[in-house]
Amino acid sequence: MQEIKDYLSENASRFEQELIEFLKIPTISADSKYQADVIRGAEFVRKQLADIGFDAETIETEGYPIVFGSWEGVPGAPTVLVYGHYDVQPPDPLDQWISPPFEPEIREGKVYARGATDDKGQMFTHIKSVEAWLKTTGRLPVNVKFVIEGEEEVGSENLDRFLEANRKKVRSDVAVISDTSQYAPGLPAITYGLRGILAAEIRLTGPDRDLHSGMFGGSVANPANVLASLVASLHNEQGRVQIPGFYDAVVELTQEEREGFAKLPFDEAAALGKIGVEDPQGEAGFSTLERRWARPTCDVNGLVSGYTGEGPKTIVPSTATAKISCRLVPDQNPRELTESLERFLADQIPPGIRFEFIDYHGCEAIVFTTESRFMSAAKGAIEAAFGTTPVMIREGGSIPVVGTFRDVLGIDTLLLGWGQNTDNLHSPNEHFSIDDFHRGTNASAHLWQLLADGSPT
Ligand code: BES
Ligand code: ZN
Repeated sequence: MQEIKDYLSENASRFEQELIEFLKIPTISADSKYQADVIRGAEFVRKQLADIGFDAETIETEGYPIVFGSWEGVPGAPTVLVYGHYDVQPPDPLDQWISPPFEPEIREGKVYARGATDDKGQMFTHIKSVEAWLKTTGRLPVNVKFVIEGEEEVGSENLDRFLEANRKKVRSDVAVISDTSQYAPGLPAITYGLRGILAAEIRLTGPDRDLHSGMFGGSVANPANVLASLVASLHNEQGRVQIPGFYDAVVELTQEEREGFAKLPFDEAAALGKIGVEDPQGEAGFSTLERRWARPTCDVNGLVSGYTGEGPKTIVPSTATAKISCRLVPDQNPRELTESLERFLADQIPPGIRFEFIDYHGCEAIVFTTESRFMSAAKGAIEAAFGTTPVMIREGGSIPVVGTFRDVLGIDTLLLGWGQNTDNLHSPNEHFSIDDFHRGTNASAHLWQLLADGSPT
């Protein structure tokens, strides 16, 4: 291991430079204006893998390419599937970035850029640890396959199709993903559960153009007013989601798990203070961590209607749209609940308003067993690199492919987050600590050895 660790420290600043080059590519999958850049991002990853001696290719899909790379030099040893995503979220609101989102800048030991932690920086740690092994020893202790996609932030649907059609090619014993967070600075974590999601958009149309609100207001349905009442109908006063059947399949937390969450060090006031919030809010009867990790929710992600420029303008808008997503927990079914949501809203539409519903994507929640030899290996790797035993946590975000790995490939995933939940993912000024980047790379280098131990190599 010493040789490998030396390689990692000798090459640390080059790794940072390469990450910076990667972060300059605006791989925004949700916005078709960036199509050429997203494809350039795939090529960047393919070349990284090819340069370190992997068989690497970009595979076309109906959407963005999937980068596939493999090194299978130890027959009989376990095969590890490393997943990551090279696409990023839109960087808006742009005026809140201190340095532009695709001009990476290092400030106080952190690299600032969209995708720094989610997921370019975290995913890069595995490429660099594999490089260190191959360049120093000419081998890896396990077989490794990389599947790096460009549509995670828009639901991974083409990836699901690829995995179903290529079971043999991607066959592996366990998956590894670094696209979650540590529990807190200095306290790394293994995430054993993620929430699922359903994402949709509703569009309301009233009059066929914006109208003078003095001439027409009060005599025609106003789509913005209607949208506001639809949004208000999603929750009751106890914070419970009102979509019929929403809670029917929810697996309640066990007492043991609730106690586990409660034992984690959590200074609620400080945690909320960091995001500019004074009082926690949500479903009555649950703690903040329970609400974030193990309760289903429904949030408006964006609302657009009428005049939003400077100063007043007296109109009845023609249209109103809302983007909505619900986070799901075991055993809620995203498809069924998307239909319930659509029906629930459609039933409330008054005469004079046309209702359209766009189903964007969905995936199920997942919870893994915390006892397995793979989990023990992950724990050992984190201990070796971070000098601390990781805590076992659930998280509230979603990574759609994790359920597909379970259902299609029959494998569990080790969710090993190197980032912090204060890294501003999906927010302005996303960043990733350079120290976390290097610790993550180190942990990854240990992981290959520990996953191999006990196997016939
Ligand atoms: N890295 C996140 C997932 C995540 C965030 C896990 C925070 C745990 C804590 C991932 O890239 C992501 O943002 N996923 C999307 C998926 C969705 C668009 C299908 C999400 O959760 O919104
Ligand atoms: Zn994300």
